[in-house]
Amino acid sequence: MFSISDLIRPELLHFKPYLSARHLSSNGEILLDANENPYDDENLNRYPDPNQIALRHSLSEYVDAPIENIFVGSGSDEIIDLLIRLFCRPGRDEVLIIEPTYGMYRVCAEVNGIKVSSCLLNDEFDIDISSLRSALSRKTKIVFCCSPNNPTGNRLSVTELLEYTKSEGIITVIDEAYLEFSKTDSVSRLRDEYPNLVVLRTLSKAWGLAGIRLGYAVAAPEIVSYLMSIKLPYNVNVLTSNSALEALSNRTNMEKKLSEIISERKRLIGEFNKLAVFEEVYPSEANFILLKSEYSEKIKQTLAENGIIVRDRSADPLLENCLRISVGTPEQNEKLLYVLKGMKL
Ligand SMILES: Cc1ncc(COP(=O)(O)O)c(C=O)c1O
Repeated sequence: MFSISDLIRPELLHFKPYLSARHLSSNGEILLDANENPYDDENLNRYPDPNQIALRHSLSEYVDAPIENIFVGSGSDEIIDLLIRLFCRPGRDEVLIIEPTYGMYRVCAEVNGIKVSSCLLNDEFDIDISSLRSALSRKTKIVFCCSPNNPTGNRLSVTELLEYTKSEGIITVIDEAYLEFSKTDSVSRLRDEYPNLVVLRTLSKAWGLAGIRLGYAVAAPEIVSYLMSIKLPYNVNVLTSNSALEALSNRTNMEKKLSEIISERKRLIGEFNKLAVFEEVYPSEANFILLKSEYSEKIKQTLAENGIIVRDRSADPLLENCLRISVGTPEQNEKLLYVLKGMKL
């Protein structure tokens, strides 16, 4: 049987978490227990709810999972860091990443003194299970997998991976930061079948709220409660929480922007395909498009001279001469296409 408590760092098993004043009580008439300032000119004088009940409740409705399965953090980046600190012992354990992928898995692991091993996606940018299996070792505690993947833009086939990592007792993080753009179901629906599964989501992309820093995880209640015990007590601030609650209460607003981005993505892919300068326009289920051109450096430079900044991914494994371009507003995309069409090579 799979057991989370066998996987977490042993020193965190019986660890006594900090109990803040707001953990102990939050509904007295006169709160004199947290050294807060009693004057509430901006309604920000009180510490936030450390258990984030309202926010987790609202997210639990959005993802259709009980609140016990939801953990919130200051961006999904914070949760990546917390997962590594929960499961990995510095100098002993390892994480596995599937490259090319989002850079923060490696950064967070290395900052925490955790060795990173990696395997490559195959020619279709999908998981090659046999090369993944050979990159795993007895020290691997977490596999990070991003789907739809940044920077390739496609979804990965994750069920075989989940099946294998469950049998090996390895935590598997599926980062679904871009899920809404793919119009498919979240793998979080499989959470009861795979107790080793942690799904990462965020309000930074489809919800258009990167500035507030709000990410969340959907995972087994046991993982959520261990994460709750090691997080900083007030990791999500009141302003962030209020903006997130407001956005989540009006889903139509997000869905309108989402459809616009998806239809602009389709239009851009069509237009890019007409440009001889691109050898490859990769399909995308995210809000960006990966492009290959032997002139990638020149394209990036010309765009920059016209005030348009795109991301050079040429240094990533498998992505020689590749640029990643985020989908902008129709006007921004029009300008992008205008500059690309007028380029002299
Ligand atoms: C795959 C992936 N995960 C997570 C993040 C970061 O999300 P957040 O803003 O919630 O920290 C990004 C940001 O680009 C990303 O591409």
